[in-house]
Amino acid sequence: MSAPFQNFGDGSNHAVIQESNSDGKPDSLLEIKDLSVKFMLAKNDVLHAVDKVSFVINRNEVVGIVGESGSGKTLTSLAILKLTPRLATVAGKVTYFKRISSGEFKSVPLDRFPERFLKRYRGSEIAMIFQDPLSSLNPVQKVGDQIVEAIRLHRRVSKRKAWARAVELMGQVGIQSPETRAHDYPHQLSGGMRQRVMIAMALSMEPKLLIADEPTTLLDEISQMQIIEMMKQLRTRLSSILYITHDLGVVAELCTKVVVMYAGRIMEIGDVNTIFNNPRHPYTKLLIESIPRIDKAKSNRLASIPGNVTPPINPKSQCRFVDRCPYAIQKCRESLPELEPAEEGMDHLTSCIRWRELAS
Ligand SMILES: Nc1ncnc2c1ncn2[C@@H]1O[C@H](COP(=O)(O)OP(=O)(O)O)[C@@H](O)[C@H]1O
Ligand code: SF4
Ligand SMILES: [Mg+2]
Repeated sequence: MSAPFQNFGDGSNHAVIQESNSDGKPDSLLEIKDLSVKFMLAKNDVLHAVDKVSFVINRNEVVGIVGESGSGKTLTSLAILKLTPRLATVAGKVTYFKRISSGEFKSVPLDRFPERFLKRYRGSEIAMIFQDPLSSLNPVQKVGDQIVEAIRLHRRVSKRKAWARAVELMGQVGIQSPETRAHDYPHQLSGGMRQRVMIAMALSMEPKLLIADEPTTLLDEISQMQIIEMMKQLRTRLSSILYITHDLGVVAELCTKVVVMYAGRIMEIGDVNTIFNNPRHPYTKLLIESIPRIDKAKSNRLASIPGNVTPPINPKSQCRFVDRCPYAIQKCRESLPELEPAEEGMDHLTSCIRWRELAS
C-alpha cells in the first residue's frame, strides 16, 4: 500500500502512514539507514568514523549504543540531528516518524531537512544531553533562566509561568531546594546537579526522544548511580531514549535494545536479554566478560580486552575486530562481514562470519 502524501506547511510533503497499515512502521520513532560519517585527512586518507550504520528506535524503547571509546557512538548520535563537526561528510537516511493525530504519522526525512526546519525538531521532538553539561550551559546566566528560555522557545507562556515550571522541573529531577538553586549560575552547582539541570532543560521541551551521550562519565560514583536511577524513571515519561555508553553494566540496567559498535561498524544488535544471554559476536562476549563483578574475587574483577580501537583510516575490506579477536582466522581478513540474522525470526543480528561455528 503506498502512503498518501500531505503538505504540512513546512516546505515539503511527507508520507502519512496510517497506524493500521501492515508494515509495522507506526512503532518506529526513528529509522537510521546506512549512516556514514567520514573525515578527509591529510594525504587523501579517509577516516570512516561511522560506516553504514542502520538501526531503528521504536516507541517505548530504550536503545543503548555501547562500545569502547572511538567506536563512533557520539558521531552516530550527532548525525541524527545534523550536528556533526563541519568537516565531516555525512551520508545515509535518518527518518523521524512524527505523530500528527491519534492514528497518523508523518515520516520526516531529517537527513534531507534544511537547517531552518531541523531547528523545530531539535529539543521539541529530539533532545540531547552530553557528557559535559558545562559545555552546553551558559556560564553567565542563572540556570533557572536557561530553562525558562528553553520552555519559551517551545511554548507561548509568560516568564513567570515558565519560571514556575522550571522550578517544578528542577524539583522533579531531584534538585533539592529548587526555588533557591534556580538562581544559581552553573559554576555554583556540582557536576551531578548540572547534569540534572540539563535533563530538566531537555524535559522542558517535552521531547519524544532523549539522546543521552555518556551523561554520567564525568560524575562521581554516587551521582552516576543517581542519574541512572533518574533515567529509569524517565522511561515512562518519554517515548524513547537513546543512551550512549561504554558501560554494558548500565545497558543491562536501563535498556531494552542494544546496538554494539566497534570502529564505526555495528557488531551486533538485539534485545537486551538476547545480547546478555545469547551473545553471538566475539566482541560482545568480551565486553560482557569485562563488566566488573562484585561477586568475584578482586583479581578476577575486570578482564579487559587487550589493545585499543584502531581508528578506521582507509579500512581494508575485512572484519574491523580482526586484530583483537581471539577467534580470527584468515577468512576474516578476506571480506567485510555484514550484519545477518543470528536467530530465526528475531531481531537479533550479528556481523561475525564465524558466529554459527562459535555458537556450537
Ligand atoms: N572532529 C573530528 N575530526 C576527526 N576525527 C574525529 C572527529 N570527531 C571524532 N573523530 C574520530 O571519529 C571516531 C569516532 O569518534 P566518536 O564518535 O567520538 O567515538 P565514541 O563516541 O564511540 O568514542 C574516532 O576515531 C574519533 O577520533
Ligand atoms: S569475523 Fe572473524 S575476526 Fe571478526 S569477530 Fe568474527 S571471528 Fe572475530
Ligand atoms: Mg563519545
